[in-house]
Amino acid sequence: MSTGHDDPASRARVTVRTLQRMKQSGDTIVCLTAYDALLARLLDRSGIDLILVGDSAGMVMAGRKDTLGVTLDEMLHFTRWAAEGVERAMLVADMPFLTYQVNPDEAVRNAGRFLAEGGAEAVKVEGGRTIAPTIQRLVSIGIPVMGHLGLTPQSINAFGGYQLQAVDEAARERLLTDARLLEEVGCFSIVLEKIPADLAEEVSGAISIPTIGIGAGAGCDGQILVTHDMLGLFTDFKPKFVRRYAELATDIEAAVTRFVDDVREGTFPAPEESYRDDGK
Ligand code: KIV
Repeated sequence: MSTGHDDPASRARVTVRTLQRMKQSGDTIVCLTAYDALLARLLDRSGIDLILVGDSAGMVMAGRKDTLGVTLDEMLHFTRWAAEGVERAMLVADMPFLTYQVNPDEAVRNAGRFLAEGGAEAVKVEGGRTIAPTIQRLVSIGIPVMGHLGLTPQSINAFGGYQLQAVDEAARERLLTDARLLEEVGCFSIVLEKIPADLAEEVSGAISIPTIGIGAGAGCDGQILVTHDMLGLFTDFKPKFVRRYAELATDIEAAVTRFVDDVREGTFPAPEESYRDDGK
């Protein structure tokens, strides 16, 4: 049986209300990342509920060492492309570093572009209490916001690495308080990244908006992975929380090597892959 959404009734667009209902009914929310129409279409057809145009694009697409250098223009570009491929899933765009932290006015202007020009239905921002007033402002003018707590990659230099977050009692308390605050200021959902599974479960039980985990165990209301990680396309490193469902980098290299050999040996193109002068 397909777990995709072939029947038209289940092809209804996923909205913030759908996600809220899924939390209430205990249906797990399934999310992945995409940065272009082709991949977004494949994910959408497979029944993914939410597609994030993540600033992970800076690493997996642009080959940079972290997400910090991704620009607003680059993210708008990726978001527009992904939007072309999506019919059912909710499309969320990650706001890049320094496009929402400077002041709420700038955040409004930049977030608005993701909806007006990018075709996204919501934006994601990283951080807790510091960014809460900005989130409140975005939500008040009708821009749905997804929060992001725990290992927030835009703060990688402050963390000094990609280590597990919220391990001591004070940090656990802080994260729980931040999650409650993000709910209070109007986030429709929160990504919890690389925190202990028992804390993620506690947070998920303590707030009424859906939590989406990445490296946060099975107690979240939904799960997200970077698609290029789970398909084995991005292989520079593999965090413990990534499960590989394919080995596409290996498959692509093998296919391209065969093409190189065939062309060099003169076995490609064959007569049936060539045209005659009668057009056949
Ligand atoms: O940028 C991204 O892809 C993300 C996910 C890992 C949640 O923020």
